[in-house]
Amino acid sequence: MHDPLVSTARLPIGSDADLAWVRQQVRKAASGLGFSLVQQTKLVTAASELARNTLVHGGGGHVEMTVLDDGGRRGLRLSFVDTGPGIRDVELAMTDGYTSGGGLGLGLSGAKRLVQEFTLDTRPGEGTTVTVTDWTCGVPSPRTGAP
Ligand SMILES: Nc1ncnc2c1ncn2[C@@H]1O[C@H](COP(=O)(O)OP(=O)(O)OP(=O)(O)O)[C@@H](O)[C@H]1O
Ligand SMILES: [Mg+2]
Repeated sequence: MHDPLVSTARLPIGSDADLAWVRQQVRKAASGLGFSLVQQTKLVTAASELARNTLVHGGGGHVEMTVLDDGGRRGLRLSFVDTGPGIRDVELAMTDGYTSGGGLGLGLSGAKRLVQEFTLDTRPGEGTTVTVTDWTCGVPSPRTGAP
């Protein structure tokens, strides 16, 4: 990733109160960047699911919030980091409806559908990092072809 970094903040994820704070801070950052209300809500929903996974499955951790600027567009990148058990079978974990413990099994797969970029990095026994990024629309590209 070569996107220039504008600012970054690290928020702990260790309790339900932290989850509420993370949701609030993501909403504030997305709104500040000029994301549409729909885009804000999608990102906050994804962040909420991922933060809950960090807490419940990862045993707690933190989220790194980074504002990016690629010249024409600005972006918000959220990395959810834990040093918990990791995910042994990522494909299975990403499957709609799969849960290892009484959830709906829609958090990971749903979060992926709600954001523009999604990466999952995990090592069994070492932990999990899920990173999502959304961008503002930026400068519209010139129309081509159509009369
Ligand atoms: N940070 C994590 N560390 C370890 N395992 C994880 C982590 N995040 C997800 N998983 C595994 O992936 C599975 C699927 O996650 P997902 O969020 O889709 O469902 P869930 O958390 O079980 O239920 P819910 O629909 O309530 O989120 C989890 O049940 C868990 O086994
Ligand atoms: Mg979940």
